[in-house]
Amino acid sequence: MNEQRPVPAGVDPLVPSPARIYDYLLGGSYNFAADREVAERGLARVPELRDVILANRGFHGRAAHWLATRGIDQFLDIGSGLPTVGNTHDVVRAVRPGARVVYADIDPMVAACAADLLTEPATTRVVLGDLRDPDALLDSPDVRELIDLSQPVGLLMTAVLHFVADASDPWALVRRYLDALAPGSYLAMSHATYDNLPEQAVQVGRDEYQRATEQFYYRSRAEIERFFTGLELVPPHPGVPPSLAYMGEWGAESVALADSDGSRWGYCGVGRKP
Ligand SMILES: C[S@@+](CC[C@H](N)C(=O)[O-])C[C@H]1O[C@@H](n2cnc3c(N)ncnc32)[C@H](O)[C@@H]1O
Repeated sequence: MNEQRPVPAGVDPLVPSPARIYDYLLGGSYNFAADREVAERGLARVPELRDVILANRGFHGRAAHWLATRGIDQFLDIGSGLPTVGNTHDVVRAVRPGARVVYADIDPMVAACAADLLTEPATTRVVLGDLRDPDALLDSPDVRELIDLSQPVGLLMTAVLHFVADASDPWALVRRYLDALAPGSYLAMSHATYDNLPEQAVQVGRDEYQRATEQFYYRSRAEIERFFTGLELVPPHPGVPPSLAYMGEWGAESVALADSDGSRWGYCGVGRKP
């Protein structure tokens, strides 16, 4: 089906990519046979894989919505993925109609499909950019034009930092973004973890992304917590202290119902820059 879609410049349809694999698992059409093969193998090896993906995407939407309710009206969504149901700008504009969103992603497929997102270029932009080059990303004309760095920003980094190796020091990279943002800004992040997962399940991510454009790096709760150093973590739901949570639990109406095997594949959190 999707092979009828023209292959955008810079995209090799024979090399699977995280954005396209994820899109397929979410039921999207921005993917090629190589992506679908990886996703289908993953589904065969990890029955709860779709639940993992939906738990993460649910967190992304709930966190973006919550930030908008806190008055945040400009968002930088890094590792945004391909257009899908519940894009960040749709979610936040339901609360704050004028909210501005810049999406950034390393996959040229995302920028090429931007037309599907850019119905309102005055308030929505898509940047082709690598998280590992914060200066280039923060200095890009689209970020400069749409995001006022002197005002609080919602920095969304969901399910992206597990594609960044320790060798690139993802903690320093996140710090660099936060340093550029005004007090009152927030970081919302989700990240895959190997905590409490059987080794053979963890191996699936490592194996399946081996030949993809990006590889997969699980981290422990402590390593994921480190991304929030210097931030004030917010409670994941009413009545509990500030902390990380499993993906499905954050902002869930029913924490008990949200506690699923898939949810436990990743931690998430929201922290405010004081
Ligand atoms: C699993 S998807 C997550 C999409 C979305 N953030 C979400 O949580 O629903 C991961 C995305 O991160 C992007 N990505 C991976 N490494 C990146 C990097 N170094 N810089 C920017 N984007 C990256 C991929 O292209 C992909 O679109």
